[in-house]
Formats: sequence, structure tokens, C-alpha cells
Amino acid sequence: MCGIVGAAAQRNVSKILLEGLKRLEYRGYDSAGLAVIEEQAIGLRKAVGKVSELVNKFDQDPIKGIVGIAHTRWATHGAPSEINAHPHSSDHIAVVHNGIIENHEELRQQLKDKGYDFVSETDTEVVAHLIHSFFIESGCLKTALRQAVGSFDGAYALGVISAQQPDTVVCARSGSPLVVGVGIDENFIASDQLALRQVTDRFIFLEEGDLAEVTTEAIRIFDQQGESVERPVVQLTDVEESADKGEYRHYMLKEIHEQPRVLGNTLQGRVSKHSVLEEAFGAEAKAIFDQVEAIQILACGTSYHAGMIAKYWFEDWAGIPCAVEVASEYRYRKTVVRPNTLFVSVSQSGETADTLAALRGSEGYLASLTVCNVANSSLVRESDLCLMTLAGPEIGVASTKAFTTQLVALQLLVIALGRRAKMTPEKETELVQALHALPELCEKVLKLDAEIQQLSEAFSEKHHALFLGRGVEYPVAKEGALKLKEISYIHAEAYPAGELKHGPLALVDSDMPVVAVAPNDQLLEKLKSNLEEVQARGGKLFVFADEQSGFANDDNTTVLLLPDVPGSIAPIIYTLPLQLLSYHVAILKGTDVDQPRNLAKSVTVE
Ligand code: G6P
Repeated sequence: MCGIVGAAAQRNVSKILLEGLKRLEYRGYDSAGLAVIEEQAIGLRKAVGKVSELVNKFDQDPIKGIVGIAHTRWATHGAPSEINAHPHSSDHIAVVHNGIIENHEELRQQLKDKGYDFVSETDTEVVAHLIHSFFIESGCLKTALRQAVGSFDGAYALGVISAQQPDTVVCARSGSPLVVGVGIDENFIASDQLALRQVTDRFIFLEEGDLAEVTTEAIRIFDQQGESVERPVVQLTDVEESADKGEYRHYMLKEIHEQPRVLGNTLQGRVSKHSVLEEAFGAEAKAIFDQVEAIQILACGTSYHAGMIAKYWFEDWAGIPCAVEVASEYRYRKTVVRPNTLFVSVSQSGETADTLAALRGSEGYLASLTVCNVANSSLVRESDLCLMTLAGPEIGVASTKAFTTQLVALQLLVIALGRRAKMTPEKETELVQALHALPELCEKVLKLDAEIQQLSEAFSEKHHALFLGRGVEYPVAKEGALKLKEISYIHAEAYPAGELKHGPLALVDSDMPVVAVAPNDQLLEKLKSNLEEVQARGGKLFVFADEQSGFANDDNTTVLLLPDVPGSIAPIIYTLPLQLLSYHVAILKGTDVDQPRNLAKSVTVE
């Protein structure tokens, strides 16, 4: 979604802001802009498109200043255009905003009645004028921001500057993330610490309702009640992973190929030769785990698919009842919580608005645990327990390594809880040994890249594709279909193969590629019967299977042979060729692989 950066320094901040935007660009990218205070006035530059467009414009007509704010936008109110791009200004005030002000229409009318003119269609322009109107009364930017946020319904992270208070950036958050970067004689704000790693490694993670006043000398933080508060400064010690593409043409391809290594990271220090080390879940985990009788998983998008797979594992291996639901549905319905249910959220970013709202609205649970990739994110801070996936920053909008590391992390959780339920020590050993073999098996599968590239040619001219799987491979098929539609814009649907004859079979003809996820498991024979139904209707089959599965190539069937793998890790292994397939189809179609149209990496509004 949108990204915010701001700075107060003793040097020109324009380049720092632009570099910050580049690092945030993967979150939202239909337009960008920056504002700095130059010669006692607000200097603004905006451009439609990627941050590079803004940089070009800036280079032709640079602005300089020691205090400024900047933004990458993913349109919510009003089309992507220069007028709708942030920062929005009101005379000497400039504002950047993530989130949605739900009562903006009402506020807009009140401000119009006071004589304010509006040029954009955004809710953010309302924020700028409202702060301006309050500034007239108090002459203090912090006070004006405090009064303005008191009028908002909705979610926001805001960064504000004023040419009449030229040494200060003020900011506030509610429902959208915001961090303050602590420098030496310079301080920063951003919607994600990633934007500031080039200037500092010390951060203050603002809490819900916090407001901060940031100058070169001081950072003053106030809570929702307006009381001055101290928040801890966190020194991030993790080595920053390079945010460039290295030898790869796209981040997505780089992230696909990182999987053998990062899956190893997810396991490291968390498993011995034969068992899962419980300490990985934190000191409080044991007391909570001892009481767990059921699981409720909440997530969105790809993370939801990881949750769907974990449900099979919880119920099959551990005998623990598990429900899984998309967070946007769950949060708005009445739910019945069984006694001693653990609330488990799964999220790459830890900031997805619906998942966070599901956690915040959860009642009656034993405790909450998040499986998450971003340290210090809202979900991590607000959950009782967390298990970090350790995939490193994921930049490609289509999630790849975050998904497979989530599966490994969830499997560790299934084992830790399962051994308190029906899982035997022998089963635990079998599962852990399979996990140890995972990185090497992934390496082998990635070597099939050239074959998959060839196979992708059969998809590039198609408008639709069907993905089939049974049992735990059904969510894998769903994830494969999601990847294809996200980055190649081909309409792709996944079905549990047993449902084929209840509708989708009507769509099958020679123009509809049908992908089957077919490892040699206990449902293979059932799946084969379903695939025969496809063949009988002239459908073109693309089967991802192992040698034991017994598929052969013929005129209508193309088989991609994968190594024989233990069933427990098959969902992880079989995801990789599907990721590569969608990548190569997108390349053939010439779409923007890393930043597909209309999508955002981190969805911080509902
Ligand atoms: C967006 C991203 C997806 C992601 C989903 C949930 O739609 O484009 O890749 O799966 O949000 O995000 P989360 O950060 O909660 O996993």
C-alpha cells in the first residue's frame, strides 16, 4: 500500500526522501511526491507512475531543504494523477497520509463552508485543510494535528510539515504503521523501517494513537490521551539484506531462488535432529501450549493459503481441531470460540489491516500467536506469541518465499502442539527429518527452471486456466492459480478435483489448460479419475507429479517430473514449480512482474 518517509536534518533531505521512496515503492506505486521546506515555503514535486518518474522530474528541477516529507501512492480515493498524488498542501502546510479517512465527505463540506477550495478527489486534502484551520487558532503544528485526528473516523498514518514551523515534522498513527528513525542530530519518520535503513538502525515503533513531534534535536511522543510518553528505542541488529535484484532480472525470481536458503533460516535453531525445540516460540509458550485444545487461523491472500494447508496438518497429524478463515470475513461476523482455542494469525507484513483487525477484535481466546515475517510489525507487537518466518525482506508483490517459510513455521507449530495431543515421537522424528531435507530438495526442483519455462509457452496466449488438487494439494493449487492471475493477468481458478463435475467441467475444452498438482499420495487414484474426465473432454493437462505417480506424456498431457519427496513437505516442494510457471508466463506476456497492476504488497487499509 502507500509509503511514507519524512526527515528533519541539518543537511538537504531531498535525496534521503527519494531513496526512502525507492525502498518503499514495492508497496504502492501509481504516483509519488515529495515536499520540502525551501526558503520559508513548501516546495512540491509530484509525478504519476514509478518513483523513477519523480526522480527524473526532481533532477530537472531540484528542490533543497532540511525538513521534508514524501509519499508513494496506491490510489484509494481518486484515480492516479498528479493532482491526487501526495503530499497534499494547504497554504504553508503539507501532508502525506496512508489509510482512509471514512468521514472525509462530511469534513470536506464543513471545510468548504469555511471557504477552503479543494483541487483533488482525495481524503488527504481534507486532512491538510483541517490541520491548516486548526493551526490558525493555535499556531502550533502538534496541537493542530492533535485536534485534526480527533475529528477522523478511519485509519491513518500521517506526516505533516509547515513552513511556519520549519524545523519540525509531526506525525500520528491509528490503524496504519509508523516508525520514527533515530539518527545523530537528525531524525526521521517512515511507514516501514526498511525506508530508513540507509540512514539509521535505531527505531521507535509508535503505538496505536501515538502522535510524535520530530526535530533534529528531539523526538517527543504523546499517547492517545495527549500524555507525554517514552517509547523504547529498538536497535535492529539483523544484517540488512540487500534490497537489490543481484544477478536476477526480477525480485520475484530472486526470491524464488532464495527459498532453499531462507527455508533453512526458518528451521535454524528451532529443530534438533529429531524434534522441534520449543524455546523457539518464546518463554511463555509452554504454559500456553499446554492448554491448547483447538486452533483458529486468520489470514489474507497467500498467507490464507498457508493457513489452509496447516489445517490439514493440525487435524491429520496432531488431531487438533483447526478452523481457517479469511480475516476480512471473520472480523465482521459473530463467531463461536471453543474453550482453549489459540488464535493464530499468518502474515508476511504483519500490517495487513483485516488480519490486524481480526486480532484486535478477538475475544474469548486462550492466547494469540502470529506467524510473521516482519520483526516489530503490529501483529508481532500485539500478539502474545510470535514465530518469525525469517524469509528476509520480500519485495515482489506476488508472495513466494514468505509463503513457503510460513508453511515451515506452521509445521513447527503443528509439531509443538501435536506432541501434546495425538502425535507420537516417531511421527515427530519423521516430520523433522523431512524438514531437514527440504532445502536440498528445493534446490533440485529449481533446477527444472528451463523445463518450466518451455511449458509456460502453452499458457501465454490463453485467457483462462484451471488448477486442480486434492486434499492438502488443493490449497497448493489455489496458491498456483493466485500466482498466475496476480502477475500474468490470466484468469485462473483452483478447484478441489473432486468438485470438477459439479460445474467447472463445463468450461473444459482444448483452449483451457488444466494444471494438476499430483504427488504420489493416498488421493492420487481419485485425482487420476478426475483428470480422466478432463482428458475425455479434450482438455490439455499439465501434471506436476513424481515418478511413482505413474503419469506419462501424450498428445494432451504434459508431465513435469519432480523428485520423490516425503508427503509432509510435498505442499512446499510443489509450490516452487507453480511459482516458476507463473513467472515465465508473465515474462512471455510482458507484464510488470514485481509490481503487477492494481496490487500492493502490504494492504494496510481494509
Ligand atoms: C497482499 C499481498 C499478498 C499477501 C496479502 C496478505 O494482497 O499482495 O501477497 O498475501 O496481501 O498479506 P500479509 O502481509 O498479511 O501476508
